[in-house]
Amino acid sequence: MFPIQSIRADFPILAQRIHNNPLVYFDNGATTQKPQCVIDAIVDSYTRTNSNIHRGIHSLSQCSTDLYEQARERVRKFINAPHGREIIFTKGVTESINLLAWSFGEKFIHEGDEIIVSTMEHHSNLVPWQMLCERKNAKLRFIPFFENGELDIECFKTLLNERTKLVSVTHISNTLGTVNPIKQIIDLAHAQGVPVCIDGAQSVQHTAIDVQALDCDFFAFSGHKIYAPTGIGVLWGKEQWLNDLPPYQGGGGMIKTVTLAHTDFNEIPFRFEAGTPDYVDAHALGVALEYVQSIGITGIEQHETELLNHATKRLQEIDAVRIIGTAAHKSGAISFVVNNAHPADIGMILDKKGIAIRTGTHCTEPVMQFYNIPATARVSFAMYNTLDEVDFFADTLRKVVRMF
Ligand code: ALA
Repeated sequence: MFPIQSIRADFPILAQRIHNNPLVYFDNGATTQKPQCVIDAIVDSYTRTNSNIHRGIHSLSQCSTDLYEQARERVRKFINAPHGREIIFTKGVTESINLLAWSFGEKFIHEGDEIIVSTMEHHSNLVPWQMLCERKNAKLRFIPFFENGELDIECFKTLLNERTKLVSVTHISNTLGTVNPIKQIIDLAHAQGVPVCIDGAQSVQHTAIDVQALDCDFFAFSGHKIYAPTGIGVLWGKEQWLNDLPPYQGGGGMIKTVTLAHTDFNEIPFRFEAGTPDYVDAHALGVALEYVQSIGITGIEQHETELLNHATKRLQEIDAVRIIGTAAHKSGAISFVVNNAHPADIGMILDKKGIAIRTGTHCTEPVMQFYNIPATARVSFAMYNTLDEVDFFADTLRKVVRMF
Protein backbone atom coordinates (compact mmCIF):
# COMPACT_ATOMS: atom_id res chain seq x y z
CA MET A 1 0.00 0.00 0.00
CA PHE A 2 1.31 3.44 -0.95
CA PRO A 3 1.33 5.46 2.34
CA ILE A 4 -0.59 8.40 0.88
CA GLN A 5 -2.04 9.70 4.14
CA SER A 6 1.28 9.84 5.98
CA ILE A 7 2.89 11.44 2.92
CA ARG A 8 0.21 14.14 2.83
CA ALA A 9 0.75 14.79 6.54
CA ASP A 10 4.41 15.53 5.75
CA PHE A 11 3.44 18.51 3.55
CA PRO A 12 2.01 21.27 5.77
CA ILE A 13 0.82 23.44 2.88
CA LEU A 14 -1.66 20.76 1.78
CA ALA A 15 -3.77 21.35 4.91
CA GLN A 16 -4.66 24.83 3.63
CA ARG A 17 -8.03 25.90 2.34
CA ILE A 18 -8.23 28.13 -0.75
CA HIS A 19 -11.45 30.10 -1.16
CA ASN A 20 -12.80 27.96 1.65
CA ASN A 21 -12.16 24.70 -0.23
CA PRO A 22 -9.45 22.15 0.48
CA LEU A 23 -6.39 22.86 -1.64
CA VAL A 24 -6.04 20.51 -4.60
CA TYR A 25 -2.56 21.23 -5.89
CA PHE A 26 -2.19 20.08 -9.49
CA ASP A 27 0.56 22.50 -10.55
CA ASN A 28 3.49 20.25 -9.67
CA GLY A 29 5.08 20.59 -13.10
CA ALA A 30 5.71 24.24 -12.25
CA THR A 31 6.93 23.52 -8.74
CA THR A 32 6.32 20.95 -6.01
CA GLN A 33 5.41 21.54 -2.38
CA LYS A 34 7.94 20.93 0.39
CA PRO A 35 7.82 18.29 3.12
CA GLN A 36 8.39 19.35 6.73
CA CYS A 37 11.85 17.71 6.76
CA VAL A 38 12.99 20.04 3.95
CA ILE A 39 11.53 23.09 5.67
CA ASP A 40 13.22 21.99 8.91
CA ALA A 41 16.54 21.53 7.13
CA ILE A 42 16.46 25.15 5.96
CA VAL A 43 15.43 26.51 9.36
CA ASP A 44 17.96 24.32 11.13
CA SER A 45 20.77 25.46 8.84
CA TYR A 46 20.10 29.12 9.55
CA THR A 47 19.48 28.42 13.24
CA ARG A 48 22.51 26.23 14.01
CA THR A 49 25.09 25.78 11.28
CA ASN A 50 25.07 28.75 8.92
CA SER A 51 28.53 29.72 7.74
CA ASN A 52 30.20 30.10 4.38
CA ILE A 53 31.64 26.86 2.99
CA HIS A 54 35.16 25.89 1.87
CA ARG A 55 36.40 29.18 3.34
CA GLY A 56 36.76 28.84 7.09
CA ILE A 57 38.67 26.69 9.54
CA HIS A 58 36.19 27.40 12.33
CA SER A 59 33.63 24.81 13.44
CA LEU A 60 30.55 26.31 11.82
CA SER A 61 32.25 26.56 8.46
CA GLN A 62 33.44 22.95 8.72
CA CYS A 63 29.93 21.83 9.60
CA SER A 64 28.33 23.81 6.78
CA THR A 65 30.93 22.48 4.33
CA ASP A 66 30.25 18.91 5.45
CA LEU A 67 26.51 19.34 4.90
CA TYR A 68 27.13 20.75 1.42
CA GLU A 69 29.43 17.93 0.40
CA GLN A 70 27.06 15.38 1.96
CA ALA A 71 24.32 16.82 -0.28
CA ARG A 72 26.57 16.34 -3.31
CA GLU A 73 27.01 12.71 -2.31
CA ARG A 74 23.24 12.30 -1.90
CA VAL A 75 22.68 13.65 -5.41
CA ARG A 76 25.37 11.31 -6.72
CA LYS A 77 23.61 8.32 -5.20
CA PHE A 78 20.19 9.47 -6.36
CA ILE A 79 21.16 9.54 -10.04
CA ASN A 80 23.80 6.81 -9.66
CA ALA A 81 26.65 8.99 -10.90
CA PRO A 82 30.11 7.39 -10.62
CA HIS A 83 31.75 10.36 -8.85
CA GLY A 84 30.65 13.23 -6.61
CA ARG A 85 33.01 15.57 -8.44
CA GLU A 86 30.78 15.21 -11.49
CA ILE A 87 27.88 16.89 -9.64
CA ILE A 88 27.77 20.67 -10.13
CA PHE A 89 25.32 22.66 -8.05
CA THR A 90 23.49 25.35 -10.03
CA LYS A 91 20.40 27.52 -9.52
CA GLY A 92 18.23 25.07 -11.44
CA VAL A 93 17.89 23.36 -14.77
CA THR A 94 17.91 26.71 -16.61
CA GLU A 95 21.30 27.62 -15.21
CA SER A 96 22.55 24.07 -15.75
CA ILE A 97 21.77 24.25 -19.45
CA ASN A 98 23.07 27.81 -19.78
CA LEU A 99 26.30 26.67 -18.15
CA LEU A 100 26.60 23.78 -20.56
CA ALA A 101 25.69 25.89 -23.60
CA TRP A 102 28.29 28.47 -22.62
CA SER A 103 31.15 26.17 -21.64
CA PHE A 104 30.60 23.42 -24.21
CA GLY A 105 29.93 26.09 -26.81
CA GLU A 106 33.15 27.97 -26.06
CA LYS A 107 35.25 24.88 -26.51
CA PHE A 108 33.51 22.69 -29.04
CA ILE A 109 31.11 24.71 -31.22
CA HIS A 110 32.39 26.42 -34.34
CA GLU A 111 30.86 28.00 -37.40
CA GLY A 112 28.75 25.50 -39.36
CA ASP A 113 28.47 23.00 -36.49
CA GLU A 114 25.05 21.62 -35.61
CA ILE A 115 23.22 21.05 -32.33
CA ILE A 116 20.03 19.00 -32.16
CA VAL A 117 17.13 19.62 -29.80
CA SER A 118 13.47 18.67 -30.22
CA THR A 119 10.54 20.94 -31.03
CA MET A 120 8.89 20.04 -27.71
CA GLU A 121 11.63 21.53 -25.48
CA HIS A 122 10.70 24.03 -22.80
CA HIS A 123 12.44 27.35 -23.30
CA SER A 124 15.26 26.39 -20.89
CA ASN A 125 16.45 23.75 -23.31
CA LEU A 126 15.88 25.83 -26.41
CA VAL A 127 16.82 29.48 -25.88
CA PRO A 128 20.38 28.84 -24.54
CA TRP A 129 21.12 26.75 -27.65
CA GLN A 130 19.64 29.42 -29.93
CA MET A 131 21.86 32.00 -28.24
CA LEU A 132 24.91 29.77 -28.64
CA CYS A 133 24.17 29.11 -32.32
CA GLU A 134 23.81 32.82 -32.97
CA ARG A 135 27.05 33.54 -31.14
CA LYS A 136 28.97 30.90 -33.03
CA ASN A 137 27.17 30.97 -36.36
CA ALA A 138 26.19 27.35 -35.80
CA LYS A 139 22.92 25.68 -36.72
CA LEU A 140 20.15 24.46 -34.42
CA ARG A 141 18.27 21.48 -35.81
CA PHE A 142 15.02 20.02 -34.53
CA ILE A 143 13.58 16.57 -33.96
CA PRO A 144 9.90 17.05 -34.81
CA PHE A 145 7.03 15.31 -33.04
CA PHE A 146 3.82 13.79 -34.33
CA GLU A 147 0.28 14.99 -33.55
CA ASN A 148 0.13 12.53 -30.61
CA GLY A 149 3.22 14.12 -29.02
CA GLU A 150 5.74 11.36 -29.81
CA LEU A 151 9.13 12.26 -31.27
CA ASP A 152 9.88 11.28 -34.86
CA ILE A 153 12.91 9.10 -34.24
CA GLU A 154 13.29 8.22 -37.94
CA CYS A 155 13.73 11.91 -38.64
CA PHE A 156 16.23 12.19 -35.77
CA LYS A 157 18.37 9.51 -37.45
CA THR A 158 18.52 11.63 -40.61
CA LEU A 159 19.50 14.77 -38.66
CA LEU A 160 22.62 13.19 -37.17
CA ASN A 161 25.67 13.84 -39.32
CA GLU A 162 29.38 14.69 -39.09
CA ARG A 163 28.56 18.33 -38.25
CA THR A 164 26.43 17.36 -35.21
CA LYS A 165 28.29 18.29 -32.04
CA LEU A 166 25.63 17.78 -29.35
CA VAL A 167 22.08 16.52 -28.81
CA SER A 168 20.03 17.97 -25.94
CA VAL A 169 16.53 16.61 -25.33
CA THR A 170 13.95 16.56 -22.62
CA HIS A 171 13.30 13.25 -20.91
CA ILE A 172 9.63 14.06 -20.22
CA SER A 173 7.73 16.91 -21.88
CA ASN A 174 6.37 19.39 -19.32
CA THR A 175 3.45 20.23 -21.63
CA LEU A 176 2.60 16.97 -23.41
CA GLY A 177 3.65 14.54 -20.70
CA THR A 178 5.44 12.43 -23.33
CA VAL A 179 8.18 10.18 -21.99
CA ASN A 180 10.79 10.30 -24.73
CA PRO A 181 12.86 7.22 -25.71
CA ILE A 182 16.04 8.79 -24.36
CA LYS A 183 18.02 5.56 -24.22
CA GLN A 184 17.43 5.05 -27.93
CA ILE A 185 18.32 8.70 -28.63
CA ILE A 186 21.54 8.40 -26.61
CA ASP A 187 22.55 5.17 -28.36
CA LEU A 188 21.84 6.59 -31.83
CA ALA A 189 23.83 9.75 -31.08
CA HIS A 190 26.73 7.83 -29.56
CA ALA A 191 26.88 5.58 -32.61
CA GLN A 192 27.86 8.77 -34.47
CA GLY A 193 30.19 9.91 -31.68
CA VAL A 194 27.82 12.70 -30.55
CA PRO A 195 27.36 13.47 -26.82
CA VAL A 196 23.88 13.85 -25.32
CA CYS A 197 22.46 16.09 -22.61
CA ILE A 198 19.21 15.00 -20.97
CA ASP A 199 16.92 17.65 -19.49
CA GLY A 200 15.49 15.91 -16.45
CA ALA A 201 13.40 18.83 -15.17
CA GLN A 202 10.20 16.79 -15.45
CA SER A 203 11.56 13.29 -14.96
CA VAL A 204 13.78 13.03 -11.90
CA GLN A 205 10.76 13.39 -9.57
CA HIS A 206 8.70 10.74 -11.38
CA THR A 207 11.03 7.91 -12.34
CA ALA A 208 14.35 6.37 -11.32
CA ILE A 209 17.37 7.97 -12.99
CA ASP A 210 20.58 6.03 -13.49
CA VAL A 211 22.99 8.13 -15.53
CA GLN A 212 25.39 5.20 -15.89
CA ALA A 213 22.74 2.88 -17.30
CA LEU A 214 21.50 5.65 -19.61
CA ASP A 215 25.09 6.45 -20.56
CA CYS A 216 24.13 10.08 -21.25
CA ASP A 217 26.92 12.66 -21.11
CA PHE A 218 25.10 15.37 -19.17
CA PHE A 219 21.95 15.35 -17.03
CA ALA A 220 20.27 18.46 -15.63
CA PHE A 221 17.48 18.93 -13.09
CA SER A 222 15.95 21.47 -10.71
CA GLY A 223 15.56 20.95 -6.98
CA HIS A 224 12.24 22.72 -6.61
CA LYS A 225 10.49 20.21 -8.85
CA ILE A 226 11.55 17.36 -6.57
CA TYR A 227 10.34 18.71 -3.21
CA ALA A 228 13.48 20.80 -2.56
CA PRO A 229 13.71 24.59 -2.32
CA THR A 230 13.82 26.99 -5.23
CA GLY A 231 17.22 28.28 -6.34
CA ILE A 232 19.11 24.99 -6.35
CA GLY A 233 19.68 22.54 -9.17
CA VAL A 234 22.21 20.18 -10.66
CA LEU A 235 24.26 19.65 -13.76
CA TRP A 236 25.84 16.23 -13.85
CA GLY A 237 28.43 15.57 -16.52
CA LYS A 238 30.85 12.77 -17.28
CA GLU A 239 34.19 13.63 -15.74
CA GLN A 240 36.07 13.49 -19.04
CA TRP A 241 33.75 16.15 -20.49
CA LEU A 242 33.74 18.41 -17.44
CA ASN A 243 37.54 18.33 -17.22
CA ASP A 244 37.65 19.59 -20.76
CA LEU A 245 35.19 22.49 -20.41
CA PRO A 246 36.19 26.07 -19.58
CA PRO A 247 34.54 27.72 -16.57
CA TYR A 248 31.15 29.39 -16.98
CA GLN A 249 31.57 32.19 -14.43
CA GLY A 250 34.59 33.65 -12.68
CA GLY A 251 34.89 34.48 -8.99
CA GLY A 252 35.83 32.98 -5.65
CA GLY A 253 35.87 29.23 -5.16
CA MET A 254 36.51 28.41 -8.81
CA ILE A 255 40.18 29.43 -8.67
CA LYS A 256 43.42 27.73 -7.67
CA THR A 257 45.69 30.80 -7.77
CA VAL A 258 45.10 34.36 -8.87
CA THR A 259 47.55 37.09 -9.81
CA LEU A 260 46.63 40.40 -11.32
CA ALA A 261 47.70 39.03 -14.65
CA HIS A 262 46.39 35.48 -14.61
CA THR A 263 44.16 32.88 -12.89
CA ASP A 264 44.61 29.14 -12.63
CA PHE A 265 41.26 27.44 -12.24
CA ASN A 266 40.21 24.94 -9.60
CA GLU A 267 39.33 21.31 -10.25
CA ILE A 268 35.81 20.05 -10.95
CA PRO A 269 33.22 20.54 -9.54
CA PHE A 270 34.45 23.75 -7.88
CA ARG A 271 35.60 25.20 -11.20
CA PHE A 272 31.92 25.55 -12.09
CA GLU A 273 30.70 26.87 -8.73
CA ALA A 274 31.93 30.47 -8.68
CA GLY A 275 31.05 32.60 -5.68
CA THR A 276 29.28 31.51 -2.50
CA PRO A 277 27.12 28.56 -3.51
CA ASP A 278 23.57 28.13 -2.25
CA TYR A 279 24.81 25.70 0.39
CA VAL A 280 21.68 25.84 2.56
CA ASP A 281 19.40 24.86 -0.30
CA ALA A 282 21.88 22.26 -1.54
CA HIS A 283 21.64 20.65 1.92
CA ALA A 284 17.84 20.85 1.75
CA LEU A 285 17.96 19.25 -1.72
CA GLY A 286 19.92 16.36 -0.21
CA VAL A 287 17.25 16.01 2.47
CA ALA A 288 14.49 16.09 -0.17
CA LEU A 289 16.20 13.31 -2.14
CA GLU A 290 16.56 11.20 1.01
CA TYR A 291 12.86 11.77 1.65
CA VAL A 292 11.96 10.59 -1.86
CA GLN A 293 14.20 7.55 -1.38
CA SER A 294 12.54 6.76 1.94
CA ILE A 295 9.16 6.59 0.13
CA GLY A 296 10.68 4.76 -2.86
CA ILE A 297 10.69 6.14 -6.41
CA THR A 298 9.13 2.95 -7.80
CA GLY A 299 6.09 3.28 -5.53
CA ILE A 300 5.85 6.99 -6.40
CA GLU A 301 5.94 6.18 -10.10
CA GLN A 302 3.19 3.56 -9.78
CA HIS A 303 1.00 5.91 -7.75
CA GLU A 304 1.46 8.81 -10.18
CA THR A 305 0.77 6.52 -13.17
CA GLU A 306 -2.51 5.57 -11.54
CA LEU A 307 -3.36 9.26 -11.09
CA LEU A 308 -2.46 10.06 -14.69
CA ASN A 309 -4.45 7.14 -16.12
CA HIS A 310 -7.49 7.93 -14.00
CA ALA A 311 -7.36 11.65 -14.86
CA THR A 312 -6.98 10.81 -18.56
CA LYS A 313 -10.03 8.56 -18.43
CA ARG A 314 -12.11 11.16 -16.59
CA LEU A 315 -11.10 13.93 -19.01
CA GLN A 316 -11.90 11.73 -22.02
CA GLU A 317 -15.44 11.38 -20.66
CA ILE A 318 -16.06 15.13 -21.05
CA ASP A 319 -17.05 15.82 -24.67
CA ALA A 320 -15.89 19.44 -24.80
CA VAL A 321 -12.40 18.54 -23.57
CA ARG A 322 -9.54 17.71 -25.93
CA ILE A 323 -6.33 16.30 -24.48
CA ILE A 324 -3.20 17.74 -26.09
CA GLY A 325 -0.55 15.02 -26.19
CA THR A 326 -1.71 11.43 -26.40
CA ALA A 327 1.59 9.56 -26.54
CA ALA A 328 1.53 5.90 -25.56
CA HIS A 329 4.02 6.54 -22.75
CA LYS A 330 3.21 9.58 -20.62
CA SER A 331 4.11 10.76 -17.15
CA GLY A 332 3.47 13.64 -14.82
CA ALA A 333 1.23 15.98 -16.76
CA ILE A 334 -1.88 16.23 -18.91
CA SER A 335 -2.58 19.28 -21.07
CA PHE A 336 -6.05 19.95 -22.38
CA VAL A 337 -8.21 22.55 -24.07
CA VAL A 338 -11.95 23.12 -23.70
CA ASN A 339 -14.23 24.07 -26.61
CA ASN A 340 -15.18 27.75 -26.57
CA ALA A 341 -13.24 28.53 -23.40
CA HIS A 342 -9.85 30.09 -22.88
CA PRO A 343 -7.64 28.00 -20.56
CA ALA A 344 -7.09 31.05 -18.32
CA ASP A 345 -10.85 31.24 -17.63
CA ILE A 346 -10.92 27.52 -16.81
CA GLY A 347 -7.99 27.99 -14.44
CA MET A 348 -9.54 30.96 -12.69
CA ILE A 349 -12.86 29.21 -12.10
CA LEU A 350 -11.16 26.04 -10.84
CA ASP A 351 -9.11 28.17 -8.46
CA LYS A 352 -12.35 29.36 -6.83
CA LYS A 353 -12.90 25.69 -5.94
CA GLY A 354 -9.42 25.39 -4.48
CA ILE A 355 -7.97 23.57 -7.50
CA ALA A 356 -4.58 24.90 -8.64
CA ILE A 357 -3.75 24.08 -12.25
CA ARG A 358 -1.43 25.82 -14.68
CA THR A 359 -2.71 27.60 -17.76
CA GLY A 360 -0.70 29.24 -20.52
CA THR A 361 2.07 28.17 -22.83
CA HIS A 362 4.12 26.38 -20.15
CA CYS A 363 7.35 27.91 -21.46
CA THR A 364 6.84 25.89 -24.66
CA GLU A 365 5.54 28.40 -27.17
CA PRO A 366 6.65 26.31 -30.19
CA VAL A 367 4.42 23.46 -28.92
CA MET A 368 1.44 25.84 -28.93
CA GLN A 369 2.41 26.96 -32.44
CA PHE A 370 2.51 23.31 -33.58
CA TYR A 371 -1.08 22.71 -32.40
CA ASN A 372 -2.15 26.20 -33.45
CA ILE A 373 -3.60 27.00 -30.04
CA PRO A 374 -2.86 29.98 -27.80
CA ALA A 375 -2.50 28.01 -24.59
CA THR A 376 -3.56 24.89 -22.70
CA ALA A 377 -4.75 24.05 -19.23
CA ARG A 378 -2.45 21.57 -17.52
CA VAL A 379 -2.78 19.30 -14.51
CA SER A 380 0.47 17.85 -13.20
CA PHE A 381 0.86 15.36 -10.40
CA ALA A 382 3.07 14.67 -7.41
CA MET A 383 3.29 11.81 -4.93
CA TYR A 384 0.86 13.51 -2.48
CA ASN A 385 -2.05 13.77 -4.94
CA THR A 386 -5.00 11.40 -4.60
CA LEU A 387 -7.58 9.73 -6.82
CA ASP A 388 -10.26 11.59 -4.85
CA GLU A 389 -8.64 14.88 -5.86
CA VAL A 390 -8.68 13.75 -9.49
CA ASP A 391 -12.38 12.96 -9.21
CA PHE A 392 -13.13 16.29 -7.53
CA PHE A 393 -11.23 18.08 -10.30
CA ALA A 394 -13.01 16.14 -13.07
CA ASP A 395 -16.46 16.64 -11.53
CA THR A 396 -15.79 20.35 -11.10
CA LEU A 397 -14.42 20.70 -14.63
CA ARG A 398 -17.52 18.99 -16.02
CA LYS A 399 -19.65 21.65 -14.31
CA VAL A 400 -17.36 24.47 -15.49
CA VAL A 401 -17.50 23.22 -19.08
CA ARG A 402 -21.29 23.46 -19.03
CA MET A 403 -20.98 27.20 -18.29
CA PHE A 404 -19.29 27.80 -21.67
N1 ALA B 1 8.66 24.94 -16.91
C1 ALA B 1 7.81 24.98 -15.76
C2 ALA B 1 6.46 24.40 -16.02
O1 ALA B 1 6.35 23.48 -16.77
C3 ALA B 1 7.78 26.27 -15.09
O2 ALA B 1 5.48 24.83 -15.46
